[in-house]
Amino acid sequence: MGCLSWKYQVLCLLSFLFHSTPSSFSSSLSSISPCSALLHFNHSLSLDSSASPSYHTSRIQMCDNSYPKTASWKEDKDCCTWDGVVCDQTTRHVIGLDLSCSWLSGPIHSNSTLFFLPHLRTLNLAGNCFNESLISPEFGKFKTLTHLNLSYSCFIGKIPYEISHLSSLVSLDLSINDELLIETPVWKRVIHNLTQLGNFFSMTRICPQLDLIL
Ligand SMILES: *[C@@H]1O[C@H](CO)[C@@H](O)[C@H](O)[C@H]1NC(C)=O
Ligand SMILES: *[C@@H]1O[C@H](CO)[C@@H](O)[C@H](O)[C@H]1NC(C)=O
Ligand SMILES: *[C@@H]1O[C@H](CO)[C@@H](O)[C@H](O)[C@H]1NC(C)=O
Ligand SMILES: *[C@@H]1O[C@H](CO)[C@@H](O)[C@H](O)[C@H]1NC(C)=O
Ligand SMILES: *[C@@H]1O[C@H](CO)[C@@H](O)[C@H](O)[C@H]1NC(C)=O
Repeated sequence: MGCLSWKYQVLCLLSFLFHSTPSSFSSSLSSISPCSALLHFNHSLSLDSSASPSYHTSRIQMCDNSYPKTASWKEDKDCCTWDGVVCDQTTRHVIGLDLSCSWLSGPIHSNSTLFFLPHLRTLNLAGNCFNESLISPEFGKFKTLTHLNLSYSCFIGKIPYEISHLSSLVSLDLSINDELLIETPVWKRVIHNLTQLGNFFSMTRICPQLDLIL
């Protein structure tokens, strides 16, 4: 994906938005357990310390103590005990995933098994480098998500409309992703639909003229 031109990526995303239907991939994997979903997600990425360099400005300090959380994950242990994973004590659903500053490198595509964790309430992937992938529309599937943090993680392109489906969001951090754009209609929908949103950290540009470029 990294090699494709910007314009092509925008077109890709647009066609995805217009033609998105539930994929057969989704239905074939809908019964995957949360632990297998995490395991597949882990295998889809690689570890690279340069994906989590420390970041300092006068206001922000990030990734001072980065380390690869997933390196200690063991297949023979319950995933609820893995570093960065939080489960509900009674239901055993995975409700929290904090892999911030964990050296993660590689793209997160729409077919990632990350999106098979339907009970997530907090997701922090800040301070990694997801190889200039787009923010997948699948992020809109996390209906119970209250905290989403994709700061400083090499995401590029347009923020998908589906972000506005996350109506439980209290905090959304998309800051320090230099090439992330939000279009006015999406922005308006976010304001309109995410009524709980108290914190919106973003350094993205509002870019209605993108339509003209196409
Ligand atoms: C997002 O995560 C980073 C890294 O852990 C942290 O520094 C930042 O404060 C978080 N953002 C929010 C809004 O909590
Ligand atoms: C998760 O990925 C890391 C790095 O690729 C690897 O060291 C670790 O063994 C993996 N854990 C599992 C449970 O597969
Ligand atoms: C991510 O990008 C780096 C640097 O461009 C590259 O070496 C690596 O192979 C990529 N990883 C994946 C999974 O695409
Ligand atoms: C997921 O999607 C990417 C990009 O569309 C593709 O390269 C990859 O092979 C797919 N992986 C699986 C497991 O289907
Ligand atoms: C607003 O959020 C609700 C609840 O998730 C969702 O059903 C609805 O589709 C969203 N509306 C728009 C226009 O995105």
